[in-house]
Amino acid sequence: MRKILTYGTYDVLHRGHINLLRRAKERGDYLIVGISTDEFNAIKGKKSYYDYETRKEMLEAIKYVDEVIPECTWDQKPGDIAKYGADEVVMGSDWEGNEKFEALRQYCDVYYLPRTEGISSTQIKSELHLMDDKAGV
Ligand code: CTP
Repeated sequence: MRKILTYGTYDVLHRGHINLLRRAKERGDYLIVGISTDEFNAIKGKKSYYDYETRKEMLEAIKYVDEVIPECTWDQKPGDIAKYGADEVVMGSDWEGNEKFEALRQYCDVYYLPRTEGISSTQIKSELHLMDDKAGV
């Protein structure tokens, strides 16, 4: 069984996330998604709209996702690869060439998938704010 591991925050799910998860799953038989905990997001200076437990529940409901694990630190990835027996780490192309992922090539395959153009959680959140502004909310 070929196991694929990927990481992200997956706040405010959108079609870019679904596209990424579908193509990641197609690269193997079992897909594990490491999602940033709220504490880890705070370290990164990010705050998600949905908390960790909610993001986890939503991801677990997606048919391409077999398992969701917490991402708590930058350097847990080699340990995750060993613990879960991952054959490949897959990330969106925004991470292509990043040393954090390139360094994992000594443990397993690393593959970057093209991002879906024109959508992100940040964009959705700011556009919803704009709609509020227009509605005078
Ligand atoms: N992703 C993608 N296409 C998009 C947005 C995200 O393929 N349009 C991928 C990312 O490359 C990553 C995964 O989805 O592998 C999770 O990304 P995440 O950072 O959680 O999503 P974003 O929408 O990029 O969130 P943000 O705006 O907060 O950075």
